[in-house]
Amino acid sequence: MKKIHLITGASSGMGMEFVRQLKGSVNDEEFWLIARRKEKMEALLRQEGLRGRAFGLDLTQTESFQEIKQALALEDVRIITLVNAAGYGKIGDFKDISEKDALGMVDLNCRALLAITKLSLPYLVRGSVIYQFASVAAFLPQPYFAVYAAGKAFVLSFSRALNQELKRYGIQVVAICPNPVETEFFQRAGVEKEVNLIKKIGMEPKEKVVATAIKRAKRGKDISISHYTAKTIYLISRLLPHGFVLRMEEKFLRSKV
Ligand SMILES: NC(=O)c1ccc[n+]([C@@H]2O[C@H](COP(=O)([O-])OP(=O)(O)OC[C@H]3O[C@@H](n4cnc5c(N)ncnc54)[C@H](OP(=O)(O)O)[C@@H]3O)[C@@H](O)[C@H]2O)c1
Repeated sequence: MKKIHLITGASSGMGMEFVRQLKGSVNDEEFWLIARRKEKMEALLRQEGLRGRAFGLDLTQTESFQEIKQALALEDVRIITLVNAAGYGKIGDFKDISEKDALGMVDLNCRALLAITKLSLPYLVRGSVIYQFASVAAFLPQPYFAVYAAGKAFVLSFSRALNQELKRYGIQVVAICPNPVETEFFQRAGVEKEVNLIKKIGMEPKEKVVATAIKRAKRGKDISISHYTAKTIYLISRLLPHGFVLRMEEKFLRSKV
């Protein structure tokens, strides 16, 4: 029986960091990595001296889910860790964001996360952990990051509810809500002016995001927020009327985007 860590978005950023930090967490482990750039994941497996497989797949395409499903069905596997890190965000006025990008964000950040979680369920065992990448953007609707923030709210809500459902099977779900993190994410997010705006809320290192999430899982928590700004925004989202916060956000952001 193979014990595997199944990680999407493992060719870069926080998915890749998860590979490094999970290394050695169980005996006889294998890493099954999914992203479009297969060569980056193969190089990672080689560099880290890990056993496993790299799947070069576009997770916005339904056929990709089928391929993972088949690979899992062909072997005797248990999924010890599932990390859904594949994701991207486009900043800007909704009317200016292409239809491809608007739908693409939903397809990758929500639909693929849901599909990979669903197809993994039969292979999860007591003690397995699912890490889902939400964001600080999940806490409030966000003008000029509207689709991304709405998608991450979906991830947060879905993950916390699923954690409650899976508790009785000894399976844990942790929703990770990072502040901005310096990864390739910002190469895709928008132009420099827009990106700098998001970065202004405070950057945090990917190593800390991942280490905190692993610690939170060990403590049985369903949400991981590692930066004080994100914790403050979480509190604001609970305390202040959203209508008021939205007006403030929009006023501030309109002058910048
Ligand atoms: N960085 C931040 O500021 C930040 C803050 C909060 C939350 N997050 C969330 O954290 C997660 C990880 O982001 P990151 O910062 O590590 O970003 P990143 O460095 O850009 O990594 C994103 C990963 O997603 C993969 N990916 C993108 N499009 C894909 C597709 N169509 N099919 C399959 N894989 C795809 C990329 O691989 P390929 O290009 O090889 O496909 C890459 O491995 C995301 O869900 C993001 O929304 C990020």
